[in-house]
Amino acid sequence: MTTLTPEATVDSVFQLLEAGSKQGYIGENISQLEHALQAALLAATARADEETILAALLHDIGQFCSAKELQRMLVEDLGQDEIDLQGLKRSKDGSTNVGVMGHEKLGAEYLRKLGFSEKVCELVESHVVGKRYLTAVDEKYYEALSSASKLSLKFQGGPFSKEEAQRFETDPLFAQKVQLRKWDDAAEAR
Ligand SMILES: [Fe+2]
Repeated sequence: MTTLTPEATVDSVFQLLEAGSKQGYIGENISQLEHALQAALLAATARADEETILAALLHDIGQFCSAKELQRMLVEDLGQDEIDLQGLKRSKDGSTNVGVMGHEKLGAEYLRKLGFSEKVCELVESHVVGKRYLTAVDEKYYEALSSASKLSLKFQGGPFSKEEAQRFETDPLFAQKVQLRKWDDAAEAR
């Protein structure tokens, strides 16, 4: 858990979001910041609860900044060294990964360290899983994905098997996780 004040925590999250204004959203003609704001707006318009709206805003936070910046924030600002950033690499789909840790896990871990609720962190962590579920149960969903998203799916483990999909349906946050994924997909308009 962070020792930062709530104000400093919000500042550090906003710094990351603002850094996203200079970074394109993979495969689309919008910035990461625009993508985040659109996802949050879709959640707010659907009258989602506050934690789900926050998760929509922050779902790609693990993508927003370079590995170096994340390391500075995690190690220097938060004083923790549990994440080994040595294995950091850019995967072929362009997303940031720390070893086997994808951007969704990195983002969730970062938010956990800052003291966000477990629900927010779990929703952030699951937005890739939501895509693996939807591509398994809905062929039209797969076909409507952008080519960048189809490509990244391969590196994210591909569609769920039937058993994996059934197990996911029993998750207490199943509906929110699937919905967050749909807002993520819809938040690509210029
Ligand atoms: Fe996204």
